[in-house]
Amino acid sequence: VTRGTADLVSLDEVRDAHRRIQPHVVRTPLVPLGAASPGSGLLLKAENLQPSGAFKLRGAFNTLLQMSDDEQRRGVVAHSSGNHAVAVAYAGAVLGISTVIVMPHDAPTSKLERTRTLGAEVVLVGSGSNERVAKADELVASKGYRLVEPYNSPLIIAATGTIAIETIEDHPDGSGGVAEIYVPVSGGGLAAGVAAAAKQLDPGVRVVGVEPEVAADAFASWQAGRIVELPAEQMARTAADGLRVQKVGSLTWPHLQAFVDEIVTVTEAEIRHAVRTVAVDARLVAEPSGATSVAAALEGRGGTGAPPQRRVAVLTGGNIDLSVLTEALTGQ
Ligand SMILES: Cc1ncc(COP(=O)(O)O)c(C=O)c1O
Repeated sequence: VTRGTADLVSLDEVRDAHRRIQPHVVRTPLVPLGAASPGSGLLLKAENLQPSGAFKLRGAFNTLLQMSDDEQRRGVVAHSSGNHAVAVAYAGAVLGISTVIVMPHDAPTSKLERTRTLGAEVVLVGSGSNERVAKADELVASKGYRLVEPYNSPLIIAATGTIAIETIEDHPDGSGGVAEIYVPVSGGGLAAGVAAAAKQLDPGVRVVGVEPEVAADAFASWQAGRIVELPAEQMARTAADGLRVQKVGSLTWPHLQAFVDEIVTVTEAEIRHAVRTVAVDARLVAEPSGATSVAAALEGRGGTGAPPQRRVAVLTGGNIDLSVLTEALTGQ
């Protein structure tokens, strides 16, 4: 399938990615939330339970496992606000590949520390996503590292598509059980892969992308019909630190256009409420970025009224600083 000049990721590519990464990633469970009676709750695809704490591990392994021996020997560089950093550092540590990660100086302390503890060399830059892309490109040119894209690559999109395969296969009601899947959008790799795989498996599944209202570049792009970029200062307004990429990718965008049904927004208060609800009700830790999808799914925002048990929110990550978690839990 193509759209414009872009080759869109096929279901075969997603299945190949699944075979490749399966030995290294967790097939995360679908955990019910808000069930008044058995089987009546919204389902969370609990990617916070990956050993790196977020879904990004799938794309990191899919990319690193595809590299030639020579590329593996030279090492890799990645740019990330946090979860891709931890994922690449983790996969590099498992596979014996050296990793350099460009991160914003204001990334959550927990993400910076985990990345360093896993053995990666961390290079700190300013908070804008454009700035870290430029620094990573510079390191590719000067050091010969291979870049591990965070979202704008077919390997990443195929890897995130594996989340849709597992979700559809594992729904307790069997095939046809999933009506709506909610995913956060930043660079768009997750939404692109989940939507591409879901629609090619079962065109009846509705895929809704979710963004913080105060940092809604993909929502603006969706409305304008072209990629809209927002300033870094505006993106910094959301507590969802994983969703501050200033514009969606050139490859993720045609996937969003081809396969995503709608993009909606949630408020900061709704995100905090979702972090708290997930902790109390599902006994899971969600970081703000990972709770945006839950916030929209709880409301059915962008859905078409499917019963909660047929809605799945991808809880994308749980790497949260203790102070932020405490604040969400106590409402202070
Ligand atoms: C927890 C979490 N959820 C969602 C996303 C969004 O993923 P993407 O950039 O593929 O849209 C990220 C990106 O870093 C993330 O860290």
